[in-house]
Formats: sequence, structure tokens, C-alpha cells
Amino acid sequence: MKDLPKIELHLHLEGAAPPAFIRDLAKRKHVDIGGIFNADGSYRFKDFQAFLKVYEAATSVLTTPEDYHRLTLAVLEQSAASGVVYSETFLSPDFCGGRDLGAWREYLAAIREAADIGQRDMGLTLRGIITCIRHFGPDKARQTARCAAETAGDWIVGFGIAGDEKVAKPKDFRWSFDAAREAGLRITAHAGEWGGPDAIRATIADLNPERIGHGVRAVEDLALVDELAENGVVLEVCPGSNIALGIYPDWRSHPIAELDRRGVKVTISTDDPPFFHTTMAREYDRLAGAFDWDKGQFMRIARASLDAAFCDADTKARVGKLLEAADA
Ligand code: ADE
Ligand code: ZN
Repeated sequence: MKDLPKIELHLHLEGAAPPAFIRDLAKRKHVDIGGIFNADGSYRFKDFQAFLKVYEAATSVLTTPEDYHRLTLAVLEQSAASGVVYSETFLSPDFCGGRDLGAWREYLAAIREAADIGQRDMGLTLRGIITCIRHFGPDKARQTARCAAETAGDWIVGFGIAGDEKVAKPKDFRWSFDAAREAGLRITAHAGEWGGPDAIRATIADLNPERIGHGVRAVEDLALVDELAENGVVLEVCPGSNIALGIYPDWRSHPIAELDRRGVKVTISTDDPPFFHTTMAREYDRLAGAFDWDKGQFMRIARASLDAAFCDADTKARVGKLLEAADA
């Protein structure tokens, strides 16, 4: 599984930070980030709310463009070790320079420099999706959308929303999504992770995303599942994340296989891999074990994932050759 070429569409950059990386940075900066680690060095949280707090505490030690440069390299190494050849990562100007456009540009330049090294040395292509944070509210999302619109292009390719799905409504963020779309960005939105089918319907009606982050709880409403399938809405499914956070008790109970059988375009991602003790290779292993998925099934999903990627056609063609080589 490790050697199959993989396409990952849903990866939070800060959420992919190895705990040792964050712990070392906190130590070097003499910052006390509280008890966010277990005795074995892993991140400590008991539920989603606690996860969000630990995530933000860990992120608070990432204070310079140089920190993000090093983080990006560490994350790329982690992904490359799992056979990822193309990845889209969520970036938040909220965390990178406090939504100040000048500061954000500096963070972005540092992240892109690391991405260039990843392309050259690891053969891994990275692109960025700017993400507002739902529980920071619609006003901050507007500032984030402005940063997104100003830096949209061949590398920043999308706009999205993460954070606490139970806070605010999708329509509160419509201005931000319209601004991002007008700037040429492609749209994804977290929904149907903590919210049910109605939350997915509202997100589609108000924000009109091409892709949905998670979206798995659509399975509770088969009419919605049919609509997603008919309209070609892509789900960025993160099974290990859902299981670690207690949405499903185990791999066999996860709805990814049913959604796939019913014709929904599903893709496979890790979300925040060290938090959930996962990697792309582990996701593949566990899915193979739970659903008897074979190489053909994973390659079909990889091709669908590349189809759903937000990068330009030349990049897709180049990455597509890597998939073809593995299929041969
Ligand atoms: N931010 C990082 N991981 C997230 C998740 N699983 N859901 C919502 N927001 C997030
Ligand atoms: Zn996510």
C-alpha cells in the first residue's frame, strides 16, 4: 500500500505538524503551551472541542514564516513516505500573520519555497487551499477571503471553511465564498462531519462547493446521497479522523464503502494525521482490511481524486502520468 501513488485533497497544514516538531519549537521559544501532550509525546484530547483547543495551542508556537517553511518540509516528508504524489493543504491566514495581507504574503512565500523543495527532492506536488475558521466568525472570514482573493493563482487554488460546524450558518459566510469564487478560486467546505444531512444541504445551497470536507453523514439520508452522486459532488473523506474522533466506532462501520457503492465520488485523506495517529498508507491499509479493497479500487479512487483536484490541467497531466505508471 505504501508504494501506491496517492492523491490527498484534505490536509490541514498545522494539523499535520508532528507533535515532536511543536514540542521542540515551544521549548526553543520558551513558550508554555500547557498539557497538550500525553506522556508518550502524542497530542492529548478527548473529543472534538478539546481537539480544536489543542490544535490552536499547538499552532500558537508557529509564529514566523520560517516556522511554516520548516513545518511544510516536515509535512511533505511525512506525506512522501506514504506514497503521496499530489497534495492539497489547507492554509489559514488567521494563523499565518493574523489576516494581515502583507504578513500573509511572507508566510505564503516561505511555504511555497518549501513546496518547491518538495517537488524537486521528493517528487511531491503541493497546492494550497485558503481556509477560514468557522468559529472565528464571518467578519474574520471576510478578511481571510480578501487574503485569498489577493493571492489566488496557480498555487493558491481553492477556498474553504473548517472549524466548529455547530457555530454560525453557511449563509453567514456567503460573502467570503462569493469573493473567493470571483477571484477564480475553487470551492470546498467542511460539512457533514458533526452536522447531519441538513447541514450538508444548507452548505450546498448557500456556498455551492464542488467538494465537501467529510460529508460522510449524508449516508443518513439516501435521497441526499443520490443527489450528491447525480451532481458529481466530491467528498473528501477522512475515515481515520472520523474514527479517532468517535463519529464511527470502527473501520467496518465507516460509510465510505457504501457511499462509493451508491455512486458518490469519494476520495481518501488524513485530515490531521499525527492527531489521529494515521498516515495515508495506514488509511489504505485499514480500508483494504475493512472492505477488501484491492489495488484496482485504490487506483480508481486516486484517478477520481486527481480529477477533483483544483490544480491546472498541465499539473494534472503530469501527476496523471505517475498514476498511469503505477497502473501499468
Ligand atoms: N480543522 C482541523 N481539523 C478539522 C476537522 N476534522 N473538522 C473541522 N475543522 C478542522
Ligand atoms: Zn478537515
